[in-house]
Amino acid sequence: MIIIRNGTLVTEEGLIRADLALDQGKIAKIGEIPAAEGDEVADAEGCLVYPGFIDGHTHLDLPVAGTVTADDFESGTRGAVAGGTTSIVDFATQYKGDTVLNALETWKKKAEGKAHANYAFHMAVCDWNEETKAQMPALREAGVTSIKVYMAYDTALTDAQILEVLQEVKKFGGVTGCHCENGGLVTELQKEQLKAGHTGTDAHPLSRPAEVEAEAVNRFCYLGRLADAPINIVHLSTKLGLQEILKAKESGQTIYVESCPQYMLFDDSVYSLPDFEGAKYVCSPPLRKQEDVEALKEAVLKGEIDTIATDHCSFRFDTQKCAGKDDFTKIPNGAPGIEHRPAVFMKIFGDQLKPEDYMRLLSTNPAKVFGMYPRKGCLKEGSDADVTVWDPAVKWTISAKNQHQNVDYTPFEGLEVTGRPRYVFVNGELAAKDGEPTERHAGRYVKR
Ligand code: URP
Ligand code: ZN
Ligand code: ZN
Repeated sequence: MIIIRNGTLVTEEGLIRADLALDQGKIAKIGEIPAAEGDEVADAEGCLVYPGFIDGHTHLDLPVAGTVTADDFESGTRGAVAGGTTSIVDFATQYKGDTVLNALETWKKKAEGKAHANYAFHMAVCDWNEETKAQMPALREAGVTSIKVYMAYDTALTDAQILEVLQEVKKFGGVTGCHCENGGLVTELQKEQLKAGHTGTDAHPLSRPAEVEAEAVNRFCYLGRLADAPINIVHLSTKLGLQEILKAKESGQTIYVESCPQYMLFDDSVYSLPDFEGAKYVCSPPLRKQEDVEALKEAVLKGEIDTIATDHCSFRFDTQKCAGKDDFTKIPNGAPGIEHRPAVFMKIFGDQLKPEDYMRLLSTNPAKVFGMYPRKGCLKEGSDADVTVWDPAVKWTISAKNQHQNVDYTPFEGLEVTGRPRYVFVNGELAAKDGEPTERHAGRYVKR
């Protein structure tokens, strides 16, 4: 048994001074726990003991844009546990011509035996047809309760297909997420930029303005309303999109909202950095105006955002991002973040949020929205022994030089942060200590 001593537990009932015992992969006991012979004691003096953080939006080992993401399940989850994240929900992706059940098997194989953190899968449905529809109950049986659809990229579905997906997912009580960008508009606006001779990274946000997101958010909300089905707006980046969501919510619709720390830290001025540095921030949706940054932060403080994820989708700067040196549309879209989400998010909000808020946004809500609660997302006897012992006093500087994710840069380079996990337990095993991952690969598939 492992006993976590002297810490302050962060629970839905508030902060509690108690010991926490981990045994056989579960939280065995909360209270005053004397150590017996053979027990290990982890000293959490001065620390906040959180239910392990959950990143509900990652892309590991993803073939995309003629390349494959720099992080696979080994390196991505290595970074995750170093930063305090004990579970991820990654996107298994059904390519055209493939079945969703086969896609799930493909993604399970990518992760099996390699993961430091637990992993569940959303299914990105990219080929909606009779066979896909017929496989939905089996997909649910296999533990997938959340589906993602795209309104952009070559993976986009039509509105009519998205409506059908919503209706099918509703039947099994799942939730459908959507990448809300009007893909047709993006293609046209990209062409316009190139025609005008704008080939650099500063054209990226111009080709995907806020309206492109807001229109898609509005459409997805209406599709959700038509289907009377719960929806999840992923990686919300604009004030305009937020306004659409708030308006739609007035009708009583169930709409979950996810955003990411990068949209609350940076604005689109990074795309004008010299020496192609802007490519490090080329993700979709793009980073926005300061007004959007402020609106999203305010939305977090008002409780209008449910989950904070990363959309971790990493590409090396030296060998992958450079594919778009002469044409910004060829830069693989995405940025790394899986390792730094808790520290960066806490840096942005500091004392404006309480530990219970950090727990809710980084752990409890992702567990609830994605069907893992109370197995995960809370410190309760019987829950999985995924625990992040957070030392709020450690000061350190984020850098590619000290990170564990497999990429040659971090968008957060040089950011001074306060707080780092002292211990991270995954299924009761020590996955990281003082920000350094162990050699354990204790992550398991989370059948939801
Ligand atoms: O640029 C990004 N975010 N790439 C990852 C795929 C997505 O759109 O979520
Ligand atoms: Zn997306
Ligand atoms: Zn994504």
